[in-house]
Amino acid sequence: MKRFAVFGNPIKHSYSPIIHSLFAEQFGFEICYEKCLINKHEFVAEVEKFFDDGGMGLNITVPFKQEAYRFLSNLSERSIEAGSVNTIKKDYNGNLCGDNTDGLGLKVDLVKNLKWNISNKRVLIIGAGGATRGILRSLFSLNPSQIVIANRTPGKVLSLLSHFKSLHNVSGCSLDNVNKEAPFDIIINATSASLNNEAVFLSDQIISEDEFFCYDLAYSDSLTPFLDWGLKRGAEISDGIGMLVEQAAESFSIWLDKAPQTESVIKYLKNNY
Ligand code: ATR
Repeated sequence: MKRFAVFGNPIKHSYSPIIHSLFAEQFGFEICYEKCLINKHEFVAEVEKFFDDGGMGLNITVPFKQEAYRFLSNLSERSIEAGSVNTIKKDYNGNLCGDNTDGLGLKVDLVKNLKWNISNKRVLIIGAGGATRGILRSLFSLNPSQIVIANRTPGKVLSLLSHFKSLHNVSGCSLDNVNKEAPFDIIINATSASLNNEAVFLSDQIISEDEFFCYDLAYSDSLTPFLDWGLKRGAEISDGIGMLVEQAAESFSIWLDKAPQTESVIKYLKNNY
């Protein structure tokens, strides 16, 4: 049986095994897809061992995405720009190749699944870590009129912006000063706050008077504090389940050259988890 896995720490919560098994079912075959808790000092050795033992493809999640990027020398353009890798495959010459499908996953979820119109809208991204780096180019490609990146620690926004100098209409500020840049039509929470069930303090003044949208890259079985905040203020909201499934679909097609349907898998996760 073809072997795949996701490496992370922690990893218990990962939905990747069920997502990829449902994809494989669509094509009439079974795969072995494991979630592996990786010791922080053994990441590289474990990756090499996985492929030496005949593994076909790996997903990489928190906290190893940047380490995967540093370790691999064959990298896709989008993983170089994101500075992180979430998908590894072995090519025909035996080289390990890194890619990043997160940005595409978000883009497909926003456009195809949610049908949110980003074009000419003012977008606020909260957070300036690896997650923001991974999605910025894809969001930019949807032609918003402005993207503002607001972060608790202002210095981190500046270093992120210096990495994306070629993108115009992208600016940054500290989370404390975000009111000055308001209003926003779309707010994306790319912090790791929701993972710890923490709220990010946001003022009501940042919301557009027209319809507005809140997207949390995180997902959990209950509403995240950020989505709860948005819902109470009349936003259309979405968690990151759709993005998770779409990034997985892109990984699946990188490994197996087959594009799975995602709608039924998203529905399955929403109904069962
Ligand atoms: P990831 O790879 O998930 O993006 P990261 O690179 O560690 O993780 O970045 C986490 C981001 O979430 C950072 O922007 C962090 O803000 P700081 O740079 O100020 O640390 C942000 N973050 C985490 N918890 C937060 C909270 N409670 N409120 C606001 N921002 C938070």
